[in-house]
Amino acid sequence: MKNTPIKQEVIDKIIREFQISDFSKATIREVRAIASQAEVASGVEFIKMEMGVPGLSPSAIGVAAEIDALKNGLASLYPDINGLPELKKEASQFVKSFINIDLSPEGCVPVTGSMQGTFASFLICSQCNQQKDTILFIDPGFPVQKQQLVVMGQKYETFDVYNYRGEKLREKLESYLEKENISAIIYSNPNNPSWICLKEEELQIIGELATQYDVIVLEDLAYFGMDFRQDLSCPNQSPFQPSVANYTDNYIILISGSKIFSYAGQRIGVCCISDKLYHRNYPRLTKRYGAGTFGSVFIHRILYALSSGTSHSAQYAMAAMLKSANNGDYNFLNEVRIYGERAKKLKDIFLRHNFYLVYDKDLGDPIADGFYFTIGYPGMSSGELAKELMYYGISAISLITTGSWQEGLRACTSFIKDHQYVQLDERLKVFAENHPILK
Ligand SMILES: Cc1ncc(COP(=O)(O)O)c(C=O)c1O
Repeated sequence: MKNTPIKQEVIDKIIREFQISDFSKATIREVRAIASQAEVASGVEFIKMEMGVPGLSPSAIGVAAEIDALKNGLASLYPDINGLPELKKEASQFVKSFINIDLSPEGCVPVTGSMQGTFASFLICSQCNQQKDTILFIDPGFPVQKQQLVVMGQKYETFDVYNYRGEKLREKLESYLEKENISAIIYSNPNNPSWICLKEEELQIIGELATQYDVIVLEDLAYFGMDFRQDLSCPNQSPFQPSVANYTDNYIILISGSKIFSYAGQRIGVCCISDKLYHRNYPRLTKRYGAGTFGSVFIHRILYALSSGTSHSAQYAMAAMLKSANNGDYNFLNEVRIYGERAKKLKDIFLRHNFYLVYDKDLGDPIADGFYFTIGYPGMSSGELAKELMYYGISAISLITTGSWQEGLRACTSFIKDHQYVQLDERLKVFAENHPILK
């Protein structure tokens, strides 16, 4: 390869030191560490697209509320295990204002990030029914959630939704559900890593089948409202964030403060359990815990055992941010719209140099511009492409690690700086020259 910004030997040596034989399986943390070492060794700035960390300042409303709460001395007090009443009320209102779904404050339960929310949800869903011992992932997805199941020794199944959009989703889902071993279905929407957004008709299929097969849907809305093709930022006004909650009562919606409020460091999210599921009695839970409905076991047994609640001050922050969004005073989506603008520019540059978008459509519509997008290069596997781009000072993760069955990479827009568009264009020009496409 000619004129690569970083000498191949430099990258190859670092990769060898990490003892990674198959680069397609390198984790986000490994790719990041290799990029950082390569930067030091070569003096060339990397265009870092592997991490899904918010690159923006935290919501000022949250920070102010949290500081006030701490000044008022609550750091010494255990938080209410049910959650701060004000936060429960605002979370319930947020679900009403932005999804148009009625859900009691009782079922809105703070967690130390959606990560804890999925951990607790996987655990309880796996305990409701002896026969239902497997979680189904509508992939691609967030790799750590599978890691959570490995940690707790639970089974999972997965399929890549790429070839099963629209009505095709029904048959594919039923092929798993009819085996009667699935306790819960999980997906994120907008999706990490592909940024596809499931459409109403697809959510309806998921919801109807969840009711029919008595399965719980874990709807991960970590990127709430961030389908920037439409303006979902006005409370109590259509269009609303699409949700499976319109089609089934068997759901837990996971709302995270990390991305929409750039509040990842404080580890705060809310699990919103439907009223019906909250009050449902599962004999197997009663046998295991002595008493309790789904909701009370979730809070008083599982969350209590995991962390005895969620950081007190972060709950004040989340309550204030949600309240302000509900009132229409704080347009949280305006603050994160920049990710979509970056994605648009970055995609244009990649496409100009012979790359293609791997997940490119939502049933005929071009996908939205947002936090992530996926790229491939003709004739190159995920591992080859990820490694090759390192020579050009560009880091991204292979789609294989996300449960995708497609060849390509996930690129994240959150760390891109303004001067890097020109850099990316120059580097990809050299890349394309070194990898001519046979037409
Ligand atoms: C799809 C998805 N779910 C959950 C999370 C984690 O959210 P939290 O920081 O609230 O634990 C992320 C973070 O990247 C994510 O992409």
